[in-house]
Amino acid sequence: MTLSRRHLLRSLSLGGLTTLAACTRKSAAIADAGSGGPASFAPTVAIPDDDPPPPLPDLVCEPTADNIEGPFWKRGAPFRAQLSDASTRGIAMAIGGQVFGGDCRPLAGATLDVWHADAAGDYDNTGWKLRGRLTSGADGRWHVDSVVPGRYLNGSRYRPRHVHVKLAARGHRALTTQLYFPGDPYNDGDPWFVPSLALAQVGPGRDTPGFWGRFDFVLEAT
Ligand SMILES: [Fe+2]
Repeated sequence: MTLSRRHLLRSLSLGGLTTLAACTRKSAAIADAGSGGPASFAPTVAIPDDDPPPPLPDLVCEPTADNIEGPFWKRGAPFRAQLSDASTRGIAMAIGGQVFGGDCRPLAGATLDVWHADAAGDYDNTGWKLRGRLTSGADGRWHVDSVVPGRYLNGSRYRPRHVHVKLAARGHRALTTQLYFPGDPYNDGDPWFVPSLALAQVGPGRDTPGFWGRFDFVLEAT
């Protein structure tokens, strides 16, 4: 099950939601049913069909916080934005946003290397499932379609759901970070969770299940 890019981009174009960019993170909650279990989602955010793109918000550009790489990154992931396929089990997830440079302007051509666990909390360490690289568009936009990652044990405690991302762009410091899910009860107490790295939940839509989240990256100029 895949959310369409059109729907995500539409959701990203909403003025009220776009103002979440960079610094302010709303946290419509995911209500979870325990570790690794199925998730239900917060009430739907209405997604009008014909909203024109809003002007860019007044950004307060603070560089995105870094976060640990973890042990499962693999060099050389294929270039693709669709990380899941028809055989992938889990709750559909569409995430995206914009990449901004140190001058607070949308940054085209940034490379995002994205990887995350499957719904059972396992990484594909032999192949490329749920791994991909993509490049931000002319307006800095990026998006990924996949499934909501599961949690996995780190010692005696589950890590909260998260998506790993490494960003690289000419003239900017490389960034390695993780995106978290608002309302995950395992966020609290996780040694690496940073509130500013929580996705802003902007869906599911009225007719589309799954999780839609927005995140805007700000890279520091070198
Ligand atoms: Fe991880």
